[in-house]
Amino acid sequence: MCGIVGYVGEDKSVEVLMGGLRRLEYRGYDSAGIAVIDGDGVLNTAKRAGKLAVLAGELEAHPINNGRTGIGHTRWATHGAPTDVNAHPHLGDNGKLALIHNGIIENFAVLKDELVAEGFGFESETDTEVAAVLLGREYQRVGDLSTAFRSVVSRLDGAFTLLAVHQDQPGVVVGARRNSPLVIGLGDGENFLGSDVAAFVEYTRRAVAVGQDQIVTITPDLVTVTDFDGTPVEAEEFDIAWDASAAEKGGWSSFMAKEVSEQPDAVANTLRGRIHEGQAVVPELTGFGDDVLAGIRRIIIVACGTAANAGYVAKYAIEKWTRVPVDVELSHEFRYRDPVLNPETLIISISQSGETMDTLMAVKYAREGGARAISICNTQGATIPRESDAVIYTHAGPEVAVASTKGFTAQIAALYLFGLHLARVRGSLTAAESAEQVIELQAIPEKIATTLLQEATVHELAGWMSDTRAVLFLGRHVGFPIALEGALKLKELAYIHAEGFAAGELKHGPIALIEPGQPVFVIVPSPRGSAHLHPKVVSNIQEIRARGARIIAIAEEGDVAVLPYADTVIRIPLAAPLFEPFLAVVPLQIFAMELATVKGLDVDQPRNLAKSVTVE
Ligand code: AGP
Ligand code: GLU
Repeated sequence: MCGIVGYVGEDKSVEVLMGGLRRLEYRGYDSAGIAVIDGDGVLNTAKRAGKLAVLAGELEAHPINNGRTGIGHTRWATHGAPTDVNAHPHLGDNGKLALIHNGIIENFAVLKDELVAEGFGFESETDTEVAAVLLGREYQRVGDLSTAFRSVVSRLDGAFTLLAVHQDQPGVVVGARRNSPLVIGLGDGENFLGSDVAAFVEYTRRAVAVGQDQIVTITPDLVTVTDFDGTPVEAEEFDIAWDASAAEKGGWSSFMAKEVSEQPDAVANTLRGRIHEGQAVVPELTGFGDDVLAGIRRIIIVACGTAANAGYVAKYAIEKWTRVPVDVELSHEFRYRDPVLNPETLIISISQSGETMDTLMAVKYAREGGARAISICNTQGATIPRESDAVIYTHAGPEVAVASTKGFTAQIAALYLFGLHLARVRGSLTAAESAEQVIELQAIPEKIATTLLQEATVHELAGWMSDTRAVLFLGRHVGFPIALEGALKLKELAYIHAEGFAAGELKHGPIALIEPGQPVFVIVPSPRGSAHLHPKVVSNIQEIRARGARIIAIAEEGDVAVLPYADTVIRIPLAAPLFEPFLAVVPLQIFAMELATVKGLDVDQPRNLAKSVTVE
């Protein structure tokens, strides 16, 4: 959601900004714009509703002069329709200052009234323009962008990353952040700002995360970070672990297709360095202290969307292995219901992007209530890990497609490592028992690779289901969250009404939906590992089949009991019950992707969605 780029350095701002915005496209947006201070010290802007290609076309038709200083923005509209006028940058100080913004300025109406009363005019409907005009007014008073920023940010409520340039201060870009993301890229005689490192990874692998309530000023040779009062703060540099090509499609038809296929590596890389002599040892948790981990009485997992589904899966495993009660809550519900919190409560947030505002707010809220927080995150330098007591990074590599796939399986791997680490510390599993689980975990990458070979069967399914208007997904135990995830993938990619149900819930209502021809995916538990559940699911299949449902069973190799009742069987390798989700989800991801492709839809950027949901 929204991409931000800032640049100072060589006479190539337009290329750097447009290239950066292109790399941030995956975040989701509906209009784009840039502002550049040219060699003559004149501020030029170009902005257009629509995709970046529209802005690129505009720049071709009406080129703006290049320069050494600039800012660029892709907007995901919150206040005002996605039009040319509402697109960022917005101007202040009689057109001499340009500002871009990610987030929402909640008190914009009050500020706007104040400025209108003073005689200022506004062109757009955005909350952002208020910040631009306010900053322009302040600049006129103090004559320096960083100083002006300091007094303006204290007047703004809500969430924001703001970047601005002023034509009287060429060679300077100033940014400020509260809750929304901002990262610095350190170059040689040039410096960068971005919503995430993808904005500048083409130019540098050295980055610094800007902290909460901080202001950053970049010039070609200098980076200064202060808090909102102007007190300098120590900025911590980190190396970007992946290169620019990792975020390229590399011959695949879509980023999603590439990312689905990368799941064996995503899981293997997440396990790497965290298994020691057959036991799960997560080094990132040592700072937490074994005594603290031993004293935990309750775990609450907070997350949204696919990340929440990973949490629902992990609940079964963590509770079983550690005997600590685990609740999973959608971040936005958790925060507003006055939950019971104390130092013996551990919050585990799960977020691929590390920027989801709902989850960030849930973590902050929980910590204010005395709970401790661990973050499971895939993005270095992101906000949520910085707001947590510890972070276990998933090493899935950049996930560009809006629909999360390798992020999901890597999250489950990280959560399982956490569960086994905790079980070891608390002694709730014997060394032999936990070693057995570790062996299962280590076998997963290979088994995902085998599951990926089912692609042809899934492809065929998508072919005959292209006109389907609704699809149901059923599962029990860990198969239930996989049913939810299968339905979520289908909704977001193929725009089809899809629902996931616990198979046991069927007779309590959903079975009324079944009519002849209704496709139903059923995640069938293993007849060996889940001998008690398998017959129940087979009975559920018979119940819906008797009413005309078309059954697509996802069942392990050798399960013949499903054969008489299934129209299609998709096979997954044998795995212990808790490890089946890693495998069962794969055909569902592929199915959603294939169906979207058959329907001619954009697989990587589904309508209305953003990769990184940075507003509540
Ligand atoms: C996944 O396919 C979705 N696009 C979405 O549900 C996503 O998982 C959710 O917004 C959470 O994102 P996060 O992991 O970056 O916090
Ligand atoms: N609230 C601002 C707007 O609607 C910024 C949205 C964004 O983050 O892109 O223009």
